[in-house]
Amino acid sequence: MAGFDKLSMTHKVVLITGGAKGMGAAHSRLIASRGGTVILTDVDAGGEETAASIRADGGQAEFLRHDVTSEAKWTSIIEQVTAKHGRIDGLVNNAGVAVVKSVEETTVEDYEFVFGVNFKAVFLGCRAVLPAMKAAGGSIVNVGSASAMKALFPQLSMYSASKSAVRMFTKVCAWDYRQYNIRVNALHPGLVETSLNAESLKDPETRRMMMGTTMFDRAGLPEEEAEMVAFLCSDAASYITGADMLVDGGWTAN
Ligand SMILES: NC(=O)c1ccc[n+]([C@@H]2O[C@H](COP(=O)([O-])OP(=O)(O)OC[C@H]3O[C@@H](n4cnc5c(N)ncnc54)[C@H](O)[C@@H]3O)[C@@H](O)[C@H]2O)c1
Repeated sequence: MAGFDKLSMTHKVVLITGGAKGMGAAHSRLIASRGGTVILTDVDAGGEETAASIRADGGQAEFLRHDVTSEAKWTSIIEQVTAKHGRIDGLVNNAGVAVVKSVEETTVEDYEFVFGVNFKAVFLGCRAVLPAMKAAGGSIVNVGSASAMKALFPQLSMYSASKSAVRMFTKVCAWDYRQYNIRVNALHPGLVETSLNAESLKDPETRRMMMGTTMFDRAGLPEEEAEMVAFLCSDAASYITGADMLVDGGWTAN
């Protein structure tokens, strides 16, 4: 039907954590370009610049400082967004961190850091947004990783375990809120070049080895991951919930 585009994000308000840079910035930019209002949050004040550049391109974007591990801050962020926009249709729990160490080298602080940002914050974000979404339904996208599906590399035990937790949490959360038309899905990106893995990719040999493990012999682009996030947040994904969406260039297929 002319003029009816299920991928359109017009009238939708979406909160994206870790939106200052990397994939979060790409998710924010694409959703805004499809007409959505994006609230990008981050501990990195550079998010202000990201939001400004989206606005400069004609999108609706605002930035809020937000540490996703803070329970109190989640309450106030959701209150702020719903007070200003009257609704919240999407939440993309994208903020993430990694520690690359063997099990013996990993400290309890490393464990708390990785699980705090990668898992506890996903739980806090879902719990905070669900009451606001119950009236009109909504879409939550929790960012896991291909590392939740397969032991791709050594020294990523804590990271992979935290992303596996995200994976199953997502599925049970989808069960719990199905009657409210709240869809809860996981995006599992493959190798994407961002500040998260810049250190590992510096070494040419490691770089070649890592790229070579993908079917396309290259890393994915943040924009390629964003297509899945924007789709999941849109009405085009109305029959998709509790799903693992792998956008990993075949990383986990072989
Ligand atoms: N890059 C990859 O290859 C890859 C692969 C699979 C999954 N992922 C996941 O994708 C997501 C995005 O990662 P990215 O690669 O774009 O990394 P990135 O480092 O470019 O971006 C992550 C963002 O999260 C923010 N952040 C970190 N701790 C935070 C906190 N406590 N509160 C709020 N914001 C915080 C950072 O400031 C940063 O802007 C992460 O969940 C990551 O684990 C990345």
